[in-house]
Amino acid sequence: MPKNNTILEVTNLNAAYGQSKVIFDINLNVKLNERVAIVGRNGAGKTTMLKCIAGLLKASSGSVIYDGMEIMGKAPFEVAKMGLKYIDQDKEVFLDLTVRENLQLSSYATGDYNWDRVFEHFPKLKILLDRKGAYLSGGERQMLMIGRAILGDPKVLLIDEPTEGLAPSIVNDLVTTFHDLSKDSAIIIVGQNLSFVSRVAQRIYAVKEGRMIAEIRDKEEIKEATYSRYL
Ligand SMILES: Nc1ncnc2c1ncn2[C@@H]1O[C@H](COP(=O)(O)OP(=O)(O)OP(=O)(O)O)[C@@H](O)[C@H]1O
Ligand SMILES: [Mg+2]
Repeated sequence: MPKNNTILEVTNLNAAYGQSKVIFDINLNVKLNERVAIVGRNGAGKTTMLKCIAGLLKASSGSVIYDGMEIMGKAPFEVAKMGLKYIDQDKEVFLDLTVRENLQLSSYATGDYNWDRVFEHFPKLKILLDRKGAYLSGGERQMLMIGRAILGDPKVLLIDEPTEGLAPSIVNDLVTTFHDLSKDSAIIIVGQNLSFVSRVAQRIYAVKEGRMIAEIRDKEEIKEATYSRYL
């Protein structure tokens, strides 16, 4: 078990696209079963940060300790297999494949064929098993993305803009879902929907122009969304 229950510890992370540096000396951590949010304006570097952590982008320097191990430099599939999953902002599921086939692919990848937990969180997916990805609504796609990601019992979920383009009722359901999911995994969400962030996160990092400018722990400040002043 990692010390202080810290399951993910990112230190001095830097990243660039070609010559242009976009994130600067980022430090962040998450504890087992904790729900953390990263907020910041468009282009602040939130997606870049998560992708570097998940091994999908190569950082220029820094350290990412996951479950006591340095994972910087590991291939994304290795990182995912170890139980750290990134869920894309673009809600990409396989459009030509059914929900069942989408789940099967993740089962092959993880060796986890037990879909009970997926259906516990998202009963609707059971009804949609034979529907093709292309015909799912935005909310249903998000359920499928998260459903696929929780196969293999991940310890950390990095979820990029989970509410983007979703109806308010679906957003409300996701609040409950994320509370439930955190019983099994630590969660980092990136979000611009502050009312959602306030209802989900126990701690918030504010990012501006690639730099971490604040860490908000105060319950009132989170509840009242006064951290919006950092945006
Ligand atoms: N593939 C890329 N090549 C060059 N620059 C990029 C690339 N992807 C992102 N950037 C730039 O890096 C910066 C950070 O982008 P990033 O996507 O990480 O921001 P973000 O905080 O996730 O934004 P959003 O809220 O719009 O999703 C931006 O200035 C963006 O234009
Ligand atoms: Mg982004």
